[in-house]
Amino acid sequence: QIYGDSRINSRGININVMSQCLPLYEQVHRFFNHSWLAGPIINGELIQQGEVMRVHAPFDRVIHVGSTYLADQSIAEQAVSIAHHAFVGWNTTPVEKRAAMLDKSADLLEEHRSELIALCHLEAGKTLQDAIDEVREAVDFCRYYAHQARHNFAAALQLDGPTGESNELYLQGKGVFVCISPWNFPLAIFAGQIMAALVAGNTVIAKPAEQTSLIAARAVELFHQAGISGKVLQLVPGLGSQVGPVLTSDERIAGVAFTGSTETAQRINRSLAARNGAIATLVAETGGQNAMIVDSTALPEQVIKDVVASAFTSAGQRCSALRVLFLQEDVADNMLQLLKGAMAELKVGNPCELDTDVGPVIDEAARHSLLKHIDHMRETATLIAEGQLPLNVTSGHFVAPVAFEIQRMNQLSKEHFGPILHIIRYPASKLDGVIEQINQSGYGLTLGIHSRNETTSRTIDSRVRVGNVYINRNQIGAVVGVQPFGGLGLSGTGPKAGGPHYLLRFATERTRTTNT
Ligand code: NAD
Ligand code: ALA
Repeated sequence: QIYGDSRINSRGININVMSQCLPLYEQVHRFFNHSWLAGPIINGELIQQGEVMRVHAPFDRVIHVGSTYLADQSIAEQAVSIAHHAFVGWNTTPVEKRAAMLDKSADLLEEHRSELIALCHLEAGKTLQDAIDEVREAVDFCRYYAHQARHNFAAALQLDGPTGESNELYLQGKGVFVCISPWNFPLAIFAGQIMAALVAGNTVIAKPAEQTSLIAARAVELFHQAGISGKVLQLVPGLGSQVGPVLTSDERIAGVAFTGSTETAQRINRSLAARNGAIATLVAETGGQNAMIVDSTALPEQVIKDVVASAFTSAGQRCSALRVLFLQEDVADNMLQLLKGAMAELKVGNPCELDTDVGPVIDEAARHSLLKHIDHMRETATLIAEGQLPLNVTSGHFVAPVAFEIQRMNQLSKEHFGPILHIIRYPASKLDGVIEQINQSGYGLTLGIHSRNETTSRTIDSRVRVGNVYINRNQIGAVVGVQPFGGLGLSGTGPKAGGPHYLLRFATERTRTTNT
């Protein structure tokens, strides 16, 4: 049973937020003056020592949201040692008991959703709609993986064999998993990785993104309340470049579940490969250079609504977000005219205001890197449209949505993780070239197709190598269990999060043969 109707979010930006959410919003508002404290949670204890990182709201640096004690090398090593010793006990805990703890975690996330939504606003700069979806998705992950574990892990598969012999195949955990998550889904992806690893029988060390450790720590407290022991799930917040290599080079680690940039995934891959001992599992979900192809049969208003939602929801800070829009040249001028109008309507600003469409980017480093790319585009490409910054931008990390026309996809050498859309015109006779350009990027996460010609959509669908294809709709907001999510190539290893095969990567298959 999927809890949330996150699909609501796939119909556009800021749909009906004001009318639906006022009662909820009053509850969320109660947390606006709260200050949170986070730190390593080792063996169930919050460690309040070491370097402290002060957390400020990305939309207004004057707002102090809380503080995080950062883990150092010795804390990370202690966590591995505790998780290593706790593994056998957890792995032999009945699957039903583990699954029930996931269901209880989901209940607690729902019960505390006002506080979690407030944290999504204040720490991650999410709009209300994004924050609501974030909590829903975390709940969905807990319930979905609990269901999958009951279905696949509880009973052994009986296999045919000779008379006098019983043969069974069953699944168990692998050992200690390190779960490393990004700031852009600070609760949903954080919880999804942890719950998958735990329910499969692994003990977990969770390493959240440094920008969003407060919500991670709050979630771990709730998961402990749900019955998951402090030895089985520990939190190690800290700078990725410092604490990450300590965790991923440890020989006692059986696997890493990582979501973040392609470069970091490659670094982790090298660190795991350089260790002695067992070969570790790496589940990596990384970036994208996602395209949408629009032909002349597409419905213009629908295209523009889906382009705007795909490129600018969450200020473009989604791995699934649209980065390169291919427009068939016969319809390009008309579409660009509509796009200009739609972008002029977007409200960029404080994500706590209910009518805001586009909130801030996560921090100053992100803003700086995006502005550098925008400056480069101003010199080398044609500006199509640019949104308005909020009037008071002095203390927030805002980047106005912007669209440029470029000539070829290989003008973009990497993913630009923000509200920047690149547009390329193509003649109908050059569709093959468009497909080739997309495949040559090496990424393979999401693809949008807008065409009323089924032969065209089928051809594109069968030839572009990506993990998630969306036809005649936007290309963000995958729903757990409905659109299992994940890519290939530079975009990740698979298997798909929120899909029926995900838990298998966290498990060891064992065959038991008994002479009866
Ligand atoms: P990032 O790679 O900078 O950081 C991700 C995590 O890795 C953080 O917790 C960070 O502390 C940690 N880290 C950094 N260096 C490390 C190291 N050497 N060893 C171990 N851990 C290390 O990514 P980000 O900026 O937090 O997130 C944005 C990126 O995530 C984008 O590229 C986006 O496309 C991608 N993403 C992908 C998906 C997906 O499902 N494919 C989902 C969300 C985000
Ligand atoms: N799963 C997220 C989306 O589909 C990244 O937008």
